[in-house]
Amino acid sequence: MTKTMTIAVLGATGMVGSRAVREAAARGHRVLAVSRKPTSDDPDVTPVAVDLSDAHALGEALTDPPGPGAPDAVVLTVRTQPVDREFLVGTTRTVLEIAARRGIRVLVVGGAGALRSPEDDELLVADNPRYVPAVLRPVATAGVAQLRACQESAHADWVYLSPPGLLEPGDRTGRYRRGTDTMLTAADGRSWISAEDLAVAALDELESPGPDRHLTVVHREAD
Ligand SMILES: NC(=O)c1ccc[n+]([C@@H]2O[C@H](COP(=O)([O-])OP(=O)(O)OC[C@H]3O[C@@H](n4cnc5c(N)ncnc54)[C@H](OP(=O)(O)O)[C@@H]3O)[C@@H](O)[C@H]2O)c1
Repeated sequence: MTKTMTIAVLGATGMVGSRAVREAAARGHRVLAVSRKPTSDDPDVTPVAVDLSDAHALGEALTDPPGPGAPDAVVLTVRTQPVDREFLVGTTRTVLEIAARRGIRVLVVGGAGALRSPEDDELLVADNPRYVPAVLRPVATAGVAQLRACQESAHADWVYLSPPGLLEPGDRTGRYRRGTDTMLTAADGRSWISAEDLAVAALDELESPGPDRHLTVVHREAD
C-alpha cells in the first residue's frame, strides 16, 4: 500500500497544478495548494497563498505551513507569461535548497525543450526549429535552464518531468508511456498527453520513484 504523503503543489491553480492537486487528493494524500490566490472546498486540500518570488514566504510555506504540516514532497509546476527565466530558475533553486535541508522529494514539471530530439540525440528539442519555432525558444530554453539548476543542486531527491510536445486539458485515461530524456511520440504520430494523465504520471513517480532524474511521458492508447 502506498504511504499517505503531504504534497505541496506550487502552481496549484494552473493547468497542470490543478490536475496534480485533484489527482493527489483523489489518492488520499494531503495537499498544500500553493499559488498567489488559491482556493479549495476540499478539507484535504489546504490553500496556501504565496507569491513565489518571495523566497522567505516560500520557505515558510514549505517548512511551517498551515493545515497538515510540512510536506513530504513538492510538485513545482509554475509558469509566467511572458516567460521569466530568472524567476523560474530562482524559484527552482530556492525550492531545492529548502528541500535539501528538510529531506523533501521534489518533482519539477518542466518543458519538452529540455529533451533530446528523437532523430538526433545531440540536439535538444529547444534548439530544434522542427519542434520549437523562434517565438517559443525563450520558453523552451528557460526550461533547459531549470533542468540545469536541478542538475547543479546539492539536493539528491529531485526529478524533472518533461511533458511531450503538446500538453493540453483532456481526459484522464490513467495510461501513459514512459521514457527518459528523449521526446516520445504517441501511436498517432503526435507527441502529446493530457494534463490529467501527466498528473497521473507525476503522482506515480512521487509514490514510486524510478531510477531516472529526467523523464518524459506520452499518451498511450488502450491495449
Ligand atoms: N509541452 C510543454 O513542454 C509544456 C506545455 C505546457 C506547460 N508546460 C510546463 O508545465 C508547467 C506548468 O504549466 P501550466 O500550463 O500548468 O501553467 P499555468 O496554467 O500558466 O499555471 C501557472 C501556475 O503558476 C503559478 N504562478 C505563476 N507565478 C507565480 C508566483 N509569482 N507566485 C505563485 N504562483 C505563481 C500560477 O498561480 P497564480 O497565478 O494563481 O498565482 C499558476 O498556478 C510549466 O513548467 C510549463 O512550462 C510544458
